[in-house]
Amino acid sequence: MAGEETAEEHESVLAPHRGRAHLWQLAVIGFVASVVGITLGVAIDWFPTQASEEGEAIDTLWDVLIVCSVPMFVLVTTVVLYSVWRFRMAPGEEEIDGPNLHGNTQIEIVWTAIPAIMLIALCSYAWVVLVDIEEAAAEPALEVRAVGEQFTWTFYYEVDGEQVASPQLYVPRGRQVDFTVQSKDVIHDFWVPAFRMKVDAVRGIDTRIRVTPKTLGRFPVVCAELCGIGHSAMRQTAHVVEPPDFEAWLADRAAGGGGSEGAGGEEGGGGATPAGDGKAVYVENNCGACHQLADAGTSGGVGPSLDEVLPGQDAAAVRASIVDPGAEISQGYNPGLMPATYGDTIQPAQLDALVEYLGEVAGE
Ligand code: CUA
Repeated sequence: MAGEETAEEHESVLAPHRGRAHLWQLAVIGFVASVVGITLGVAIDWFPTQASEEGEAIDTLWDVLIVCSVPMFVLVTTVVLYSVWRFRMAPGEEEIDGPNLHGNTQIEIVWTAIPAIMLIALCSYAWVVLVDIEEAAAEPALEVRAVGEQFTWTFYYEVDGEQVASPQLYVPRGRQVDFTVQSKDVIHDFWVPAFRMKVDAVRGIDTRIRVTPKTLGRFPVVCAELCGIGHSAMRQTAHVVEPPDFEAWLADRAAGGGGSEGAGGEEGGGGATPAGDGKAVYVENNCGACHQLADAGTSGGVGPSLDEVLPGQDAAAVRASIVDPGAEISQGYNPGLMPATYGDTIQPAQLDALVEYLGEVAGE
């Protein structure tokens, strides 16, 4: 008898007039949670500085996706959590079967149609944004080849038919840059978060992205594909400078000139690094990502610790280790671990300074 009573109570829970009250409660909870969720989603500063024109369309797309997806998420979780709480089993109901429900074709059509329409609309919008940001600008773009390898990026510019290599990315503000991205070994991913654009670097094929930098400054270049032990250290710097500064930097670079930071200096600041500053060369080439060197305050553990291997080495040996790292490998390290590009990317004057600096440090 007790069991039947409980069953009646159970039925009463689902009586039409009570059901309507539940719907109202659900609607109010869902509405409040949606408003809070959307407000938080739009108010939170999710991304780093927006430094490219493409970033505007992408950040707006993100906001629209937040506004559309938060209510959908809230609707589903609210109904699930509310049902778990409101219709939970009471003691003594273990043996009772739930009410015998049949499908409701109308509701099923509605809950299939609404997400389908939203999905199609959002995909179309995202597609339009993608086509928009991939479009070539009217004036000719600057061509830059970004080549990834374990564990560094090298950037190549063409000047009078010659390839000019740089370990740092310099781009002029306001001009579209057409990146051709390549890899020498495993898959890497060329990513400048401030530009909002990224693309895989895959050996054997060229991938491309277009970016129009709009904000002066320095922004991290990151590898976004797990590529080995030094993946997290595969970070460099993108310098967005005024066009005349960029031209000066590139001309200087092509001439194999002195200032390792370029004639234009940083953010128009004009502060060129003296050629004799070997520590600056060490920093600019991101040596510390892989090597430990107390004097420069770096603790990279990918390659040998320079604090340990440098003492006792003469300048010629140090120079050889930089430009031809495969010739002699420190014990416990694999051949090919260190990129063999530094002979090209570090210019002679800088290389002299770097070797001199490392010699001084080792002699201390
Ligand atoms: Cu290269 Cu991760």
